Amino acid sequence: MKQVIISGIGAEIPQASISNEELVASFNTWVDSENPRRAAEGLEPLAKSDVDFIVYASGVKTRHVIEREGILDPTRMTPRIAPRGDDEVSVEAEFGLASARKALDHAGLKGSDIDMVICAASHQQRPYPALAIEIQKELGAGGSAFDMSLGCSSAGAAVHVAFNLVRSGAQKRVLIVTPEIITGHLNFRDRQTHFIFGDASASMVIEALEEGESRPGKLEIVDTRSWTQFSNNIRTNFGFLLRAGQEDTSVIRMEGNMIKQVGNKVFKEVTVAGHRFIVEFLAEHGHVPDGIRRFWLHQANARMNAMILKLAFGHEVDHDRAPMVLERLGNTAAAGAIVALSENHEDMQPGDLGLLCAFGAGYSIGAALVRMR
Ligand code: COA
Repeated sequence: MKQVIISGIGAEIPQASISNEELVASFNTWVDSENPRRAAEGLEPLAKSDVDFIVYASGVKTRHVIEREGILDPTRMTPRIAPRGDDEVSVEAEFGLASARKALDHAGLKGSDIDMVICAASHQQRPYPALAIEIQKELGAGGSAFDMSLGCSSAGAAVHVAFNLVRSGAQKRVLIVTPEIITGHLNFRDRQTHFIFGDASASMVIEALEEGESRPGKLEIVDTRSWTQFSNNIRTNFGFLLRAGQEDTSVIRMEGNMIKQVGNKVFKEVTVAGHRFIVEFLAEHGHVPDGIRRFWLHQANARMNAMILKLAFGHEVDHDRAPMVLERLGNTAAAGAIVALSENHEDMQPGDLGLLCAFGAGYSIGAALVRMR
């Protein structure tokens, strides 16, 4: 078996951002315009959203988005992204390419050095041709490419696949690309979820070391693990069968078919599953949480991460040990843990251990135990 490193990491954060205050103002303006109509129809009034609740419940203060104005327009509440022709680079591939190029630069590689591209994201713009193949073509990468999806654990599962393909010698260098345009799928008229997500793209190059090569300053992957258990508590019903279920097939009805979650059940169940997973995975390698220098956890909820770590460690853990990008970026699905990794690993010393661990819909958990070389 070959030794495997993460030779490059890249993150692309869109420039535009939306504060909680702006998001809540737009939501509440829409509620004010809806409630008279609902009253006339004898429906319960809609409740307003609240900035203090959002900060307390989730820890999110702002989110970066690929388009802001359409989201904040109370008559639209959906990003405005111009459609592109089939001969243009698609929006999600372009977003993926932005982080992929940064990861390649960080690794000191060209696109042609890559022999597999995996586009691993919770939201894929289309089923085919695979976004990964479009990215492969734009980068001039060789070999093959495919898309895979496992909710917020998509990149975790992709690392599991890439690590095993590279260490066995089946592939030399795998590029994992995780472009998350979640705002395109989010119902900004749903009080329970409108504040949670933001857009981000993150990429990693996973490659084998040559015989005798040392690559100090790079993270070596010690092992990876993937876990799933079915749950409906985070679900989207958006898909191609929607049209077939409608009488009027001229318009696809999105309302009710976008992201929904029973947040408090997810919180409890994933906290239990997440901390057990971490403790067991580390124990399998003879480690305890206290022996791990850094945790790059899924960025869904600040309180949830604090609780997972408290249960795993038996005491509270600070943000130097487990950095958070959520306050600034919101939940960026499968990109979040990699963004945390990209911003928080260069100070690690040779021999320091770290755990990349994402969790989310499915339920699913994916992790990589790494050691600084
Ligand atoms: N503004 C004001 N109040 C709101 C609100 C909003 N935007 N959204 C919900 N509320 C209300 C609820 O209606 C509820 O009111 P009630 O008690 O009168 O019924 C109350 O706040 C508490 O709601 P609850 O859903 O129990 O809150 P919570 O503390 O669990 O926080 C989440 C909600 C979504 C932030 C939290 O559950 C979470 O982050 N869960 C984990 C999600 C996750 O990890 N997903 C996986 C990856 S995608």
